[in-house]
Amino acid sequence: MITIYLNRDISDDERRQSLFSGDFHLYSGRPGALAFVDHAKNLISEAFTGLDPERAQYEMDVEEFVRRVGPLKSEFTNGQRTKELCQQFAVDLGMDPETTYFDIPRLRVIPADQFLTAGVSYNYKAHRDMWYGHPQQLLNYWTPVFPVVGGNVMSMYTDFFDKPVRNASNAYDYEEWVAKHRHAAAEKLSKDDRPHPVPLEDFDSRSEIRIAGGSGDIFMFSSNHLHASAPNTSGVTRFSYDLRTINIDDVRENRGPRNVDSGATGTTLGDFLRVSDLAPLNVDDLMVASATR
Ligand SMILES: [Fe+2]
Repeated sequence: MITIYLNRDISDDERRQSLFSGDFHLYSGRPGALAFVDHAKNLISEAFTGLDPERAQYEMDVEEFVRRVGPLKSEFTNGQRTKELCQQFAVDLGMDPETTYFDIPRLRVIPADQFLTAGVSYNYKAHRDMWYGHPQQLLNYWTPVFPVVGGNVMSMYTDFFDKPVRNASNAYDYEEWVAKHRHAAAEKLSKDDRPHPVPLEDFDSRSEIRIAGGSGDIFMFSSNHLHASAPNTSGVTRFSYDLRTINIDDVRENRGPRNVDSGATGTTLGDFLRVSDLAPLNVDDLMVASATR
């Protein structure tokens, strides 16, 4: 059974445990998340000067859209202000800044009506984040910049939290992806032929749910959940950001949901930054610590 909690006031330790068992947690009105949304809105309005960003896709061709969205995403992900906002976001939600590490967040820009579903606006097929080389302990904080509806959010296939799906993650290696494929996104205008770890079977999707909040509402879930970008049928471009964290003690103690079907190799752990001081996670130390325990 999966429970959806709204604004539940519990410690981060208890919440991680709940998320690891498949529960969802939703938070609204959190200052850290709202400050993040303001930052995203500023960058978005600069990228689409003079246009309504949710409808700008109807005013330009795909090339022009990509020309604006590529730098927007890159500035959002890599800017210094974004890192400060990640620190604020985590502390505001009660995470321990010394043991919590975050991966720099991504801005998702998903146009409506199949305008662009590849590259910078890749519509993710059903996947677990572990299929992309993330650790089992990863938690995801998904936040819409503008209010969303069922027709432009994510699909969560709740039945498959602990049930395997045949998939292509065996062929996925994170280091290889970074070296060969990540930076090719902007070139993909119609077909995304990068080797994404996709499902290799049709699965029963009757357990699909979609959670749609307002601007700045946080949707937290374990990345072990099978999830996908829902085809955007809302008539407007979806802008959202997602931030991911791990707690280093969870990784050391190997807590978290069971790996039911991921065969991905390599790890994203080396990308994570400590909330307290932005120090990168030292993966070698982590491996030595777990080997000598
Ligand atoms: Fe994902």
